[in-house]
Amino acid sequence: MKEKLNQIREEALAAISAENADLEQIRIKYLGKKGELTAVLRGMGALSAEERPIIGQIANEVRTEIENSLSSATQALKEKELQKKLIEEKIDVTMPAADIKVGKLHPLTQIQRRIEEIFIGMGFSIAEGPEVELDYYNFQALNIPENHPARDTQDTFYITENILLRSQTSPVQVRTMEKQKPPIRIISPGRVYRSDAVDATHSPLFHQVEGLVVDKGITMGDLKGMLETFAKTLFGDETRLRFRPHHFPFTEPSAEVDVSCFVCGGKGCRVCKNEGWIEILGAGMVHPFVLSNCGIDPEVYSGFAFGVGIERVAMTKYGIDDMRLLYENDMRFLEQF
Ligand code: DAH
Repeated sequence: MKEKLNQIREEALAAISAENADLEQIRIKYLGKKGELTAVLRGMGALSAEERPIIGQIANEVRTEIENSLSSATQALKEKELQKKLIEEKIDVTMPAADIKVGKLHPLTQIQRRIEEIFIGMGFSIAEGPEVELDYYNFQALNIPENHPARDTQDTFYITENILLRSQTSPVQVRTMEKQKPPIRIISPGRVYRSDAVDATHSPLFHQVEGLVVDKGITMGDLKGMLETFAKTLFGDETRLRFRPHHFPFTEPSAEVDVSCFVCGGKGCRVCKNEGWIEILGAGMVHPFVLSNCGIDPEVYSGFAFGVGIERVAMTKYGIDDMRLLYENDMRFLEQF
């Protein structure tokens, strides 16, 4: 019987350590109810009283050995499976991700932000004003008298006699000067409205950036220098400026300002319509009446102001020949910027 037990032990241990061993099957074969070891134990009744405890002990040892061997083999198998899983299911975090489609800013927004950046860089801050405005701020305080043609209902959307959609960003000058004492250095970007029919260069809604500087001893030279820095930063270092005398009721003297065409450098081309120059803004020295309307003493302070058309700048910079393209939201157009 001893030999039989030793044989069972050797066979079982060998089976367990064999490659791809079916451990459950081995457990049933040796330790199960109808297993080989169980069969030996059942036969113990036939043994003598001296032999029984000796064989019993050996049988227990064999059982424990097989059990331990099975459980460490099971453990090892689990470990191996885990390792395999870890290797197989590894995620390669260096693999390039699928493209995320991000949109981009509308060309007008891009230009507006660029203009803001340039002026913020020169120490300006940004002021805002309402689009639904009082006649007083849009016209009266800006030295535009009752019968001035700019008030014509053909140009301005009136809501009531005194309330309108602002036709320019200039009212923000007045609102700023009423609230803030000099030194003042602001720009104010935003929408403006005019009762114009839509065509290649007109839209009832468009955008301007107003600028205003008020302090002691501000001169036309300061205006020129600042606008030159602005134009060179936006259109390139070779850009030149041309000031043409003009009339605005709220500035004296006033000028319309052209930039040399950045495409042909002033020789004349399609973009500048053979002029060599492109008009982008109006400017001037703030009229003394406007200063005193806002409670600022024109004997002590002076200032300059300007108004830039954002569409004008965008069309100039990108060579866009029809303003309507900016509002139609055709992706094939917008994707180019
Ligand atoms: N508000 C004027 C316009 O819409 C533009 C303008 C011209 C603004 C001269 C100014 C300025 O501040 O000084 O045509």
